[in-house]
Amino acid sequence: MNPTQLFDPTSHSYTYILFDEVSRDALIIDPVTEQLERDLDALRRLNLKLKWAVETHAHADHITSAAQLAEMTGAQLAAPVGCGVGTAAVQLKHGDVLRFGREAVRVLHTPGHTQGSVCFYWERKWHDPEEVPTEASNVPLGHEMRPDLRQDERHVFTGDTLLIGGCGRTDFQSGSAAQLYDSITGQLFTLPDDTIVWPGHDYHERTQSTIGLEKATNPRLADKSRDEFVALMDALDLPKPRRIDEAVPANQRSGRNAPQASSPARGEPALADGYAGDITPETARQWMDSGRAVLVDVRTDAEREWVGFVPGAAAVAWKQWPGMALNPDFDVQVQAAAEEGLTVMLLCRSGVRSIAAAKRATELGLTAYNVLGGFEGDPDANAQRGHQNGWRHAGLPWRQN
Ligand SMILES: [Fe+2]
Repeated sequence: MNPTQLFDPTSHSYTYILFDEVSRDALIIDPVTEQLERDLDALRRLNLKLKWAVETHAHADHITSAAQLAEMTGAQLAAPVGCGVGTAAVQLKHGDVLRFGREAVRVLHTPGHTQGSVCFYWERKWHDPEEVPTEASNVPLGHEMRPDLRQDERHVFTGDTLLIGGCGRTDFQSGSAAQLYDSITGQLFTLPDDTIVWPGHDYHERTQSTIGLEKATNPRLADKSRDEFVALMDALDLPKPRRIDEAVPANQRSGRNAPQASSPARGEPALADGYAGDITPETARQWMDSGRAVLVDVRTDAEREWVGFVPGAAAVAWKQWPGMALNPDFDVQVQAAAEEGLTVMLLCRSGVRSIAAAKRATELGLTAYNVLGGFEGDPDANAQRGHQNGWRHAGLPWRQN
């Protein structure tokens, strides 16, 4: 069974969803922030539980949605140890294995495009249907088990290390053409020839290749010596990636606090897509005091109970712990909190769930704002919250039981 391959046309990036057919545990590779809703929808449609959101490297051409996916699905973040992604709790080294149900991917450290770049190798064993528990017959429509496929499969997710008929550039972000040559020929090209290659990008509507095909036909590598490859890469003279200055730092925070189209100034909300806008905690406090809007805390009961709460805020959970399942009564409760069509301001831990909740409240006909930074704020370089932004950091009233 092939992985689910998803395409972002703006950055020509591929995102992949891999899953175990029985447990429905899933792993996503290189998700793109503009495609967050599409990816959440794919996970829902396939009835998957996202266990891992992983990166092949710190991208320069798009911003990841990994942190948002983690907030909304409970997935763990994993990124290569050499990429400076401090927000990923799991720092991947060569040979590490990430498990999802019966399936697992192995990390191949393949420096060259960037110093920390990795590929993910997925050796998918054929599971005899006789051994498959009965719930496997409940696979969603369109993803039936293929009775014709009775053999092991091998897949490699190559990020920007190896592309179809090409490879990632090596002229920025600690890249090295010589290292890239060694990584491709010494690691990727030693995988079995029938291993399917799933690239991080393609600019010509091609979707997949194989190791055997790339060895034989990739114009940068086939019959090229190391010196020839280095000379070829040195002569490319490519323009600087358009988004590198914003994308790399944002990706080193797993996409948290990605640059917004506009940012709030002097108490005015910043415009947003799908809801009324983003406001600072200070503005939220003023609007709350003046009666202009109702503050709605969408965190779980457990977070309010243990971490603290804002006196006077309405409690309407978006999801509940444990399990973080959506609150089935959210619609009714948020409408009740809004009273006579009042404006709502949604507050969560750090401003991710509150965006999802603000979009839903907007669909229900309310005027809904997101409170930037949430109650606890974003994690800093030490993965600690509360040191840089958020309601508590702003010194606004809160208390603990
Ligand atoms: Fe890249």
